[in-house]
Amino acid sequence: MDSHEHIFSLLFLSLILLFTGADASGQHLNFRPTKLFVFGDSYVDTGNHGRQVSFSWKDPYGITFPGKPSGRFSDGRVLTDFIAKYLGVKSPVPYKLRRSMAQHLKYGMNFAYGGTGVFDTSTPAPNMTNQIDLFQQLIKDKAYTAADLSYSVALVSVAGNDYSHYINQNGSAEGFPSFIASVVNEMASNLKRIHELGVKKLAVSGLQPLGCLPANTAPSTFRRCNDSSNVLVAFHNSLLTQAVSKLNQQTKDQSTFVLLDLYNSFMSVLAHPSTHNIQNQFQPCCVGVSSGYSCGDVDDNNFKKYNVCDDPKSAFFWDLAHPTQAGWHAVYNKLQTTNVLQQLVVQN
Ligand SMILES: *[C@@H]1O[C@H](CO)[C@@H](O)[C@H](O)[C@H]1NC(C)=O
Ligand SMILES: *[C@@H]1O[C@H](CO)[C@@H](O)[C@H](O)[C@H]1NC(C)=O
Ligand SMILES: *[C@@H]1O[C@H](CO)[C@@H](O)[C@H](O)[C@H]1NC(C)=O
Repeated sequence: MDSHEHIFSLLFLSLILLFTGADASGQHLNFRPTKLFVFGDSYVDTGNHGRQVSFSWKDPYGITFPGKPSGRFSDGRVLTDFIAKYLGVKSPVPYKLRRSMAQHLKYGMNFAYGGTGVFDTSTPAPNMTNQIDLFQQLIKDKAYTAADLSYSVALVSVAGNDYSHYINQNGSAEGFPSFIASVVNEMASNLKRIHELGVKKLAVSGLQPLGCLPANTAPSTFRRCNDSSNVLVAFHNSLLTQAVSKLNQQTKDQSTFVLLDLYNSFMSVLAHPSTHNIQNQFQPCCVGVSSGYSCGDVDDNNFKKYNVCDDPKSAFFWDLAHPTQAGWHAVYNKLQTTNVLQQLVVQN
């Protein structure tokens, strides 16, 4: 065979390999997502609330990144930004900014609103059902094609606000387990619906240890986690684990729905903070000057009513409920050690 023929047959062979999805070693090619769609609450919201309504748009939120408030509930990057980086896509544009940043639609979209739950909470913003409705409408409007969606990943973080809302509404202790079951059932139908809209892979976060959030460790001056809260979280997470494996059985693929274990990632960082260059694992970096004031509050004369720690990079928690960028980075590193993120880039 002359050299032209040789090159031609090599080309032909590589084309065959490309279309059968196998490389020379016979392994499946990696799944390379090009879009990320995000649903849920403040752990993944990157700026959907209006500037007038949310403290996430007030100083000193965003002081580490991007250097001013960006609508993120942290001093800097949040879980979404780290997952996007892992997938090799830009952090997707918040739904609210879809018109002004239309050139960014190709990276996906973020529908998450801080304070929301699978059910309605006291935050007047779209619950999970409504967020998925917004996504569905965009698909109807042809903002995303079926082919786009087949190269997409969804990230879902939700449920914490359902539980704080339940407690604020004086929900009974006896009723809590059945409420948790209804939250997880609703989450499972939300996840199924996102998948049925054409999203290829879904990462859903397990619930963080709510009992260790500064809001709940404040009674012990930020020293001890509230174990009874964490017991409820563990129940939620065990039901969610079952729900996710059932969804995977139904889709006959073990890597469609992937559970991100925030509980153990948080706990591991909180137990070994120095491994992650964190000094203050329970004390939040930004706090109100007295009870009645929160991070970001000012008085009528615009005087700050909060204090910020000297080094946000050495604190795990930013405010009473949210990690710092350093905290999220540590959690993300922990998630990476468990191989779970790899499931998001494995071909089904
Ligand atoms: C979500 O919000 C809509 C509109 O507020 C409401 O009608 C619906 O019942 C909510 N869904 C759930 C599951 O709570
Ligand atoms: C919950 O109970 C507290 C104290 O008994 C009461 O002040 C508050 O109004 C109640 N809240 C709701 C939503 O029922
Ligand atoms: C722990 O949280 C529960 C609610 O889950 C609350 O009833 C209890 O008072 C808290 N315990 C402490 C010590 O703060």
